Amino acid sequence: MRIAIYPGTFDPITNGHVDIIDRAREIFDRVIVAVAGSTNKRTLFSSAERIAMIREIVKKHKNVSVDRFDGLLVRYAQSKKAIAIVRGLRAVSDFEYEFQMALTNRKLDGDITTVFLMPHEKYTYLNSSIVRELATLGGDVTEFVPPNVRRRLTEKMKSVRG
Ligand code: COA
Repeated sequence: MRIAIYPGTFDPITNGHVDIIDRAREIFDRVIVAVAGSTNKRTLFSSAERIAMIREIVKKHKNVSVDRFDGLLVRYAQSKKAIAIVRGLRAVSDFEYEFQMALTNRKLDGDITTVFLMPHEKYTYLNSSIVRELATLGGDVTEFVPPNVRRRLTEKMKSVRG
């Protein structure tokens, strides 16, 4: 059983992330989308909300599951007997940070390999901050996120504005 972890903050999950999940699930027997619970980032959605949105999207795939992780990623990957960590590489600007993270994780556990996948080029400029900013300013996010995420963003904006 070749298990891969796809970690991230996913605040919220975007079509770019979904693209990476779709590629990873073709390569590995099982993909665990691991949502960082405690993170330095101030998130718009709680970890429970971020997990629920991803579950709605991946429930149609038998070999994809969603989980929360806290603490060291490598330790979590070991606990799941994963052989790989999947990360998306969108542009050269991602490289330095990803390189540093991959090498650190390899230092911590040489048996877990970081695998970089490239999303479709139409998603190379996309990240969660842009989606959050658009939603906050009333922009249309239809092209960037799955429909359930769009709905939840609209609800969140209503509740934030009161
Ligand atoms: N499509 C669209 N957006 C994408 C994307 C894709 N395919 N791939 C990445 N992104 C976006 C993310 O949404 C995020 O956007 P944001 O910063 O606007 O919110 C950004 O690109 C990537 O952020 P980054 O900080 O690189 O990753 P992350 O927040 O998704 O996840 C962890 C980082 C949680 C995986 C990492 O911090 C971690 O492993 N933490 C655990 C602690 C640990 O083990 N530390 C040691 C590691 S060396």
